[in-house]
Amino acid sequence: MDTVKTTLTETATLILKGKEYELPVTTGSEGEVGIDITKLRNITGAITLDNGYGNTGSCESAITFIDGEKGILRYRGYPIEELAGKSNFVEVCYLLIFGYLPTKPVLNEFIYNLAHHSLIHEDMKKFFEGYSANAHPMGILSSMVNSLSAYYPESDYKADVELNIIRLLAKLKTIAAFSYKKSIGQPYIYPKDDLSFSADLLHMMFAVPSEPYEIPKALEEALDLLLILHADHEQNCSTSTVRMVGSSEANLFASISAGISALWGRLHGGANQAVITMLEQIHKDGGDYKKFINLAKDKESKFKLMGFGHRVYKNFDPRATILKTAADRVLNELGVKDPLLDIAKNLEEIALKDPFFVERKLYPNVDFYSGIIYRAMGIPTDMFTVMFALGRLPGWIAQWKEMRETPGARIYRPRQIYIGETQRPYVPLDKR
Ligand code: CMC
Repeated sequence: MDTVKTTLTETATLILKGKEYELPVTTGSEGEVGIDITKLRNITGAITLDNGYGNTGSCESAITFIDGEKGILRYRGYPIEELAGKSNFVEVCYLLIFGYLPTKPVLNEFIYNLAHHSLIHEDMKKFFEGYSANAHPMGILSSMVNSLSAYYPESDYKADVELNIIRLLAKLKTIAAFSYKKSIGQPYIYPKDDLSFSADLLHMMFAVPSEPYEIPKALEEALDLLLILHADHEQNCSTSTVRMVGSSEANLFASISAGISALWGRLHGGANQAVITMLEQIHKDGGDYKKFINLAKDKESKFKLMGFGHRVYKNFDPRATILKTAADRVLNELGVKDPLLDIAKNLEEIALKDPFFVERKLYPNVDFYSGIIYRAMGIPTDMFTVMFALGRLPGWIAQWKEMRETPGARIYRPRQIYIGETQRPYVPLDKR
């Protein structure tokens, strides 16, 4: 795979305490400019302070490009709109992890491998028994992925690493479906090799041994689209976590397990669940949008419009645009009428005209409409973030792999500005 090398074009001059320092400037393949501060502390004694890492480039990466101002998202150079319309999730997994669109024989082998490795070790089923029925499936998912390291030890050989990548991609959907079956007290349904990735996941979630189950095509297509749209999003919170954990040379399963935990929070992947809770609240309250918009504008209320705003997009999130259209289509195809879809559309319309949201460039993000589609598909609310994790898995793997293969990669270890007490003598217990 060709990686377009960044170029050192010019230097930036830093004046600190009257002294001038020249810092290299690096430019990415899309013209993104970064001041390289790798040697900053060595030459100046100072560090940078960047709350929430909003201005910090933690790595160079050839996987995903986002232009948040223009609403552009591309995986390995391919626009998300094209992949969503023409590709499928398994092909996108290959593209993200290995860097190019596979030929037919390569893709067929990849599909075969994913099907072949989809069973989990029978002993792992015992773990599911240990969880209470109301355990959140994200907690189960994260623990189970970490447990995979007990069955498939790490090795530095390329072929072994690639086998563990296949195993993880193949088994995560089985783990996700089993945790759902556990939560509703139904028997586990084993994977079926002749089904597509998305169809197999639906089959494991919704089939029961006592009845035949036909996978509705509309459901399979909707799921595949959702998985593609979630597949990677460069250095977000969970992906940075995967890289952070992986940078200590922790194994693939441990690194991804940490990423799943990071995704769980409601400011990140957990937002899809939080959006539905919010829309239900508005529905129960009689649909008074103004009240909720005002609450979101009132900083004292701590209420946020879930599914709105993004650190990188200061324009429409292209994934949300695709999903808004898909929501209408999927609900129609499935014959579902959901009042929450109308509430979401009305809320969006009002928010997009409100100066508070306009000035702050707050637009709907991917989580705003995804929950409505999951709901129409019959997926329970607390499984929404698990679906996000299934989609994001190839991105996490690609980023982990890229980091491991980067020559000279270093352990992630940020610094801090200490603001605590300066040195003071210890006070014995009886003198405090
Ligand atoms: N509702 C109301 N006000 C908001 C919202 C919101 N959803 N999001 C941001 N703001 C305000 C924020 O209070 C701040 O106002 P001010 O400048 O007056 O202090 C301003 O907009 C800038 O926001 P920020 O908090 O500095 O933005 P951030 O980049 O730190 O946070 C975010 C990004 C996504 C965490 C945030 O927008 C948010 O909490 N949104 C709701 C949760 C959500 O939908 N998360 C899913 C993100 S997309 C999927 C994913 O990749 O995880």
